[in-house]
Amino acid sequence: MIPAAGRGVRLGPGAPKALRALNGTPMLVHAVRAMAASRAVSVVVVVAPPDGAAEVKTLLTDHALPERTDVLVVPGGATRQESVRLGLDALPPGIDIVLVHDAARPLVPVDTVDGVIEAVRDGAPAVVPALPVTDTVKEVAPAAAEPAPAGSAAPVAPEPVVATPDRSRLRAVQTPQGFDHATLLRAHEAVVVGDGATDDAGLVERLGEPVVLVPGHEEAFKVTRPLDLVLAEAVLARRRA
Ligand code: C5P
Repeated sequence: MIPAAGRGVRLGPGAPKALRALNGTPMLVHAVRAMAASRAVSVVVVVAPPDGAAEVKTLLTDHALPERTDVLVVPGGATRQESVRLGLDALPPGIDIVLVHDAARPLVPVDTVDGVIEAVRDGAPAVVPALPVTDTVKEVAPAAAEPAPAGSAAPVAPEPVVATPDRSRLRAVQTPQGFDHATLLRAHEAVVVGDGATDDAGLVERLGEPVVLVPGHEEAFKVTRPLDLVLAEAVLARRRA
């Protein structure tokens, strides 16, 4: 499942993020192809912006995708969590393993996708691709608002640091996150709407079920800010070379 209903405001003004082009092809098409590249993926459910499902359907029929993959498009919700929930409701029967993949990670390599699937098949109810963090991370006081994005003209008040977690024990997580279908459904049923969860594995953790990490990939980075678009186009150019 690919939640792609976000507006992508941090990327600057323009079309919804998933519909922005990377080397002439919408990010969402790259993301669908990245999932369909795995032979284990039989159906891709795309969760579109609520007012853009028809546009997304047309877009996906206009671009070549492997024939063995069915693509369904459903309208999304106001939050990522709601969009994933709507995507779950649209899954056809008989699906044992669900991957949830951000449209904003269009270049994830197929080996990463297959690695996640394999770990779920081996019995883990929730599997997350992850990388060690390279920056030291500081924790700030809970009342602090999210700072303005880099390059923004908004003034940023100095923020007091409350802790510096041990970097060697931190991982930055990516997608696709893979789940035993029943576990993911239970996790979504148990959540309080609007509780601010930023990933699906976090919901499974709250159930008390084990979540495991497998190696992620640097090319599975999230396209969030304008510089990420430059990087993504450079990765595509390198793949073609
Ligand atoms: O905002 P963030 O970068 O964490 O979004 C991750 C993914 O969730 C993106 O692919 C975005 O399109 C999707 N999303 C969604 N519905 C929302 C908000 C975000 O499908 N309401």
